[in-house]
Amino acid sequence: MPAASLEQLASLCKRRGFIYPSSDIYGGLQGVFDYGPLGVELKNNIINSWWSTNVYARDDMEGLDASILMNRLVWKYSGHEETFNDPLVDCRQCKGRWRADHIKGKCPSCGSSDLTDPRPFNMMFKTAIGPVADSDSFAYLRPETAQGIFANFANVLATTSRKLPFGIAQVGKAFRNEINPRNFLFRVREFEQMEIEFFVMPGTDEEWHERWLEDRLSWWESIGVPRSKIQVYDVPKDGLAHYSKRTYDLMYDYPTLGYEEIEGIASRSDYDLGSHSRDQENLGLSAKVSPNRDSIAKLNYYDQANNRHVVPFVIEPSAGVGRCFLAVLSEAYDEQLVKEPAVDKVEAVRGALESFAKSVGRNEKISGEQRDAIVAQAEHIGANLAHNLPQIEQLLAMPGADGIEVGKKLRGVAQPVVDEFYRTVLHLKPHLAPTKVAVFPLKRNHDGLVSMAKGIRSDLQMNANMRTVYDDTGAIGKLYRRQDEIGTPFCVTVDFESLENGTVTVRDRDSMQQERILAKELEQYVREKSR
Ligand code: GAP
Repeated sequence: MPAASLEQLASLCKRRGFIYPSSDIYGGLQGVFDYGPLGVELKNNIINSWWSTNVYARDDMEGLDASILMNRLVWKYSGHEETFNDPLVDCRQCKGRWRADHIKGKCPSCGSSDLTDPRPFNMMFKTAIGPVADSDSFAYLRPETAQGIFANFANVLATTSRKLPFGIAQVGKAFRNEINPRNFLFRVREFEQMEIEFFVMPGTDEEWHERWLEDRLSWWESIGVPRSKIQVYDVPKDGLAHYSKRTYDLMYDYPTLGYEEIEGIASRSDYDLGSHSRDQENLGLSAKVSPNRDSIAKLNYYDQANNRHVVPFVIEPSAGVGRCFLAVLSEAYDEQLVKEPAVDKVEAVRGALESFAKSVGRNEKISGEQRDAIVAQAEHIGANLAHNLPQIEQLLAMPGADGIEVGKKLRGVAQPVVDEFYRTVLHLKPHLAPTKVAVFPLKRNHDGLVSMAKGIRSDLQMNANMRTVYDDTGAIGKLYRRQDEIGTPFCVTVDFESLENGTVTVRDRDSMQQERILAKELEQYVREKSR
């Protein structure tokens, strides 16, 4: 069962070290996050999966890693200086600043409708290059990785002798000064993109656009985000970006948010290569571009078969790593009842939950909106309490709930029941799991068990290149739960029988079944089961 809310994911991410707010020790920085020890593994695995599928498994793709800082003229001719704007409004009452298309004519902070007219706000961050900060020395932090690819089109063509159609893939940071960053990793100011610019013969672009749509949906499926959770939105003409001829937005059904963009697949015609070229008049461009007197290159391609020069058309699949990370976590997330809790324990929690809801309903210190939201959530949990019991922790983390005194009592009654009867598990695809194998000795003070378990760990980690951890800091049942929560597909226990005959037990995360196999066959076993 996917996650019920973004809060649920954010809470797991913080608790287990996937994601931290940036600069936490100084109160954070809005719209910026850090990937912790498990987060960086999951993120790298997502990126590696994207790279393998789009670069290594194809024979029509090259890779690139262009710089973040580029000549300012790139952003002039790409159209970003003029058009990369969001509509900004000010609230005259509380001085809040908002993105006009994200609010419904009312200030979300104070509720006032006394707002200024929207005005364009350019989202590119500026920085100064060199010791003197003046109007000539500034540069932008790139708001998309795509332009690094267009600016290198002629370099890649010359150094690889590629023929159309071919693509250039790149993963890297992008920066956008979002007016209101929000919803955890969904809308942030610093993020990574996985982008492809696929160059095709003019006239074949529509066919390639459809092929890329299919290829991308297959990849999402391969990482555990099913087609049934993605809607393909054919962006209407008046909603297209300045470069786009046609765009399919892949809309994923995020918890809390509903369907929102996870990837854009744009057909960019010859707009970009044409915009960055000199002698545009002689290139036979189909896109309308601004005159360029600064470029020293003609970004076209010699079509040998027809003895002519063409400016390739471009199909661009572009996905955000953070939005992908959220979708993967959301699909993998599950709270399972492991064994039915006794009725008296559930009823004790129900009593505490009802007292909590009553106390919230009477509390005048929190806003009416917060009160209604908490009470509604408490009722939702209570409607199927045996099943929803683990959601009590998120209920207690809702805005306004932390100040309710009886919340502590509710947590005190609910937590032991959750620990005993439920487990949180991430059903991540094994190739994405931050840790592939966890190894435990049955007893931590037995030299033979410890040494064999540590040997297995280092063998899998060093020789088989599988992220493997050793843990002996609790009872085996507790260690299983800990690994379930971070999505480790296999837990290996070394016991006394292991010392006698070289076998170990392997416990499967999803089925919770155990098998006894020879320790020396572990690598092969894990590889086969991970396919
Ligand atoms: N080169 C095309 C381009 O950048 P985009 O639709 O603006 O297109 C592509 O961005 C993807 O980047 C989006 O589908 C989304 O996944 C991600 N993205 C864009 N803005 C983001 C933000 N502020 N925070 C997180 N991800 C973002």
